Amino acid sequence: MTPVYPQVAESSQVLSALGIALQCPRWTASIAQAARLKFPTATEFCMRCRPSESRKVQAFDAWAQSYDTRRNPLLVLEQRYLDRMLPDLSGRDVLNAGCGSGRWLSRISLMGTHRVCGMDVSAGMLQAAAQKDLPGVELVQCSCDKTPYADESFDVILSSFVLSYVDDLASFAAEMSRIGRAGCDRYLSDMHPETQCQLGWKRTFQDGQQAVELETVSHRIRDVIGVFASLGWKLYAALETEFGNPEREVFEAAGRLGRFNEADGRPAIYLLHLRKSDSRRTNIEEQDEIAIGGARCVIGPSEDTSGDWGSPIS
Ligand SMILES: C[S@@+](CC[C@H](N)C(=O)[O-])C[C@H]1O[C@@H](n2cnc3c(N)ncnc32)[C@H](O)[C@@H]1O
Repeated sequence: MTPVYPQVAESSQVLSALGIALQCPRWTASIAQAARLKFPTATEFCMRCRPSESRKVQAFDAWAQSYDTRRNPLLVLEQRYLDRMLPDLSGRDVLNAGCGSGRWLSRISLMGTHRVCGMDVSAGMLQAAAQKDLPGVELVQCSCDKTPYADESFDVILSSFVLSYVDDLASFAAEMSRIGRAGCDRYLSDMHPETQCQLGWKRTFQDGQQAVELETVSHRIRDVIGVFASLGWKLYAALETEFGNPEREVFEAAGRLGRFNEADGRPAIYLLHLRKSDSRRTNIEEQDEIAIGGARCVIGPSEDTSGDWGSPIS
């Protein structure tokens, strides 16, 4: 079997790999120029939000104060895998859609890119990002389903832990499809919806003395893949990854080892790599360049060992 994502396969069990091996050369570092901020005023922005959206944005603004202050095992796990999945970004135009406080922007901006853009619906998150040293990174406040970018602006688009907050998957995918160039690499990660449901995981943060729980939407992984496939994006990799030792340490330091043990044997997150094709292909079963690796199970509660993407994903 040809290993896909060899760097990932090194540290995880590859259960199934169909099709081609992917090139993930190491990036080269370079320094870009000064950050540019394009925030609409709060009034302008709120007029464009539905009331429930504006509540959500306020919650993200509040979360921005503490988002970077505590180590989060989900983020540690995602970074461990995504670092090795990302392609060579040198000379490429990259968008971090739902960039939050700039966790990935600070890494991507050192990867020799031509252009790096970060967009987020929350001004608070963007301000936290702007406080980081992000030379040359363009920050824009907007929603993922309605962005100011021209058609076919980006070679790579990354969204980490954003989809759970996106109600309208179709509009999200359509907008990302509009601004992605032919051949655009799309990376999506999120908390694993089944484990979230089974273990009752919630998204909470501490706002002063108050614990705030964020409203989320649980999208099935196959629906995410399907909506992109209908717009001509091919699936290259689907990883469902469990916590490992690096995350164990984070749980332990937080005095929450019980939570780690409870998640044992279950995927904590998923990561998808899709690529925009030139020609439209709408049937997921037609895809011939799918690679699956890095997880102890593949999609769905009943498909936990086969990884056979030739069968319809129900
Ligand atoms: C959990 S945080 C993740 C931040 C960052 N991607 C990371 O992984 O560190 C979710 C982010 O998605 C942003 N977000 C939620 N819905 C959005 C939307 N429709 N458009 C743009 N950003 C959105 C929030 O403001 C927040 O910054």
